[in-house]
Amino acid sequence: MNSSTVVEAVLVARGLTRAFAHADGPVEVLRGVDLEVVPGEVVTVSGRSGSGKSALFALLCGFDKPDSGSVEVCGQVMTGAPEWGDCAVLPQALGLAQELTLAENVALPLRLSGRRDVVHERVTELFAELGISRLADRYPGEVSYGQQQRAALARAIVGRPRVLLADEPTAHLDHGSVAAVLALLRRTAQDGAAVLVATHHDEVHAIADRRLALADGRVVPV
Ligand SMILES: Nc1ncnc2c1ncn2[C@@H]1O[C@H](COP(=O)(O)OP(=O)(O)OP(=O)(O)O)[C@@H](O)[C@H]1O
Ligand SMILES: [Mg+2]
Repeated sequence: MNSSTVVEAVLVARGLTRAFAHADGPVEVLRGVDLEVVPGEVVTVSGRSGSGKSALFALLCGFDKPDSGSVEVCGQVMTGAPEWGDCAVLPQALGLAQELTLAENVALPLRLSGRRDVVHERVTELFAELGISRLADRYPGEVSYGQQQRAALARAIVGRPRVLLADEPTAHLDHGSVAAVLALLRRTAQDGAAVLVATHHDEVHAIADRRLALADGRVVPV
C-alpha cells in the first residue's frame, strides 16, 4: 500500500453516551466515546472491571442503543444490529445456542447467509486451529467455559466478517489456547478485518497495532 493511501475506517464511533438506571439514580457509564478501527488492524481496549468495555461493545454491535452519538459499520450509520458478515461479535457472555452442538453453533452464520458449501471446510479448519476438534459434536453444556469460549470465537470469525469485536477472548484459557486465539485474531486482521478486542491480559495487548483504554467513560490511547 502507498504510504499516502488513506484507509477508510470500517468501524467508527462518535460521541457515544450511555447511562444505566440504578436505585440511587442514573449512572453514566459512557460519556462520549470516539474511536475508529481500519481494516487490517488489531486494536485492544483495556480498563478496570466495570469501566464499560462490554457496555461499549454492546453499542458497537447493535445489541444496545446509545443515549446519544452514532456508530458506523462499513460506511453505514447503524440503526439496528448490522449484518453478521459486516460485524460479528464474541460477547463476554458467549451466547451459544444450548440446543445446538458446538459445530452447529459455528456453522449457523454460514447457513443463514446461504454458504452451506463451505460449512464443513471452515468449521473443521477453525476447530482444529483452536484445539477443539474432538468436541465438535458436543453441546455447550457438555464442555468447559474455555472450550465454549473458543467455539463462540469460531462462530464470530467463520463468515470472515469485516469487523470483529472480541470481548475478553482469552479470559478462561490456558497458555496454549491463548496462543492459538491470538494467532487467529492476528490472521483475521491480516485477512482484512478490523479487529477490536477488550482485554485485561498483557499478552493480548502485545499483539495489538494500537492500544486504547476506557477510563471515566471515554476512550484514550495508551
Ligand atoms: N444492562 C445494564 N443495566 C444496568 N447497569 C449496567 C448494565 N450493563 C452494564 N451496567 C453497568 O455498567 C458498568 C460497566 O459494565 P461493563 O460490563 O461494561 O464493564 P466492563 O468494563 O466490561 O467490566 P469487566 O472487565 O468486568 O468485563 C457497570 O457498573 C455495570 O454495572
Ligand atoms: Mg466486560
